[in-house]
Amino acid sequence: MAVVEDDRLVGFVGASPEYGVTAWELHPLVVSAERRLRGIGTLLCLELEQVLKERGCLTIYLGSDDETGSTTLGNTDLFDDTFEKIKDIRNLKRHPFEFYQKVGYRIVGVIPDANGIGKPDIWLAKSIADRTR
Ligand SMILES: CC(C)(COP(=O)(O)OP(=O)(O)OC[C@H]1O[C@@H](n2cnc3c(N)ncnc32)[C@H](O)[C@@H]1OP(=O)(O)O)[C@@H](O)C(=O)NCCC(=O)NCCS
Repeated sequence: MAVVEDDRLVGFVGASPEYGVTAWELHPLVVSAERRLRGIGTLLCLELEQVLKERGCLTIYLGSDDETGSTTLGNTDLFDDTFEKIKDIRNLKRHPFEFYQKVGYRIVGVIPDANGIGKPDIWLAKSIADRTR
């Protein structure tokens, strides 16, 4: 799914089904640098939700690496006090986890040292399930 302005691609999002149709991994999501902070990333995420709902998706999830100490989950041993550290996460260098939280995602876990010592992957997920049915 893409956003095009004046014949220029300014953002796109993709997702793939990894558990039958019920959970899809969001990847990639990119908005061109000069068009950021104008709601395009949010729009792409919300449009994706509509399409995936029609395909039977209940949960959208993604991994967002912290390889540069951009959050308090970087440069620390996440095998110690894992859930306390997740609960107390702070953004140090504009890591996108905060963008995803604003779109309704929650941090559901981490993979410690996924990209090297102290460089975790942060996992976020959002329910789009209709729980009234
Ligand atoms: C992350 C990204 C997709 C956000 O797209 P965007 O169009 O700038 O986002 P929006 O304008 O919809 O922002 C929605 C909200 O999130 C906030 N936000 C956006 N990027 C943020 C960041 N990096 N850190 C903290 N908050 C952020 C915005 O300030 C806005 O907050 P508000 O509602 O309080 O005003 C974009 O910055 C990007 O393409 N980054 C590079 C690629 C990337 O990191 N992709 C994600 C990989 S997991």
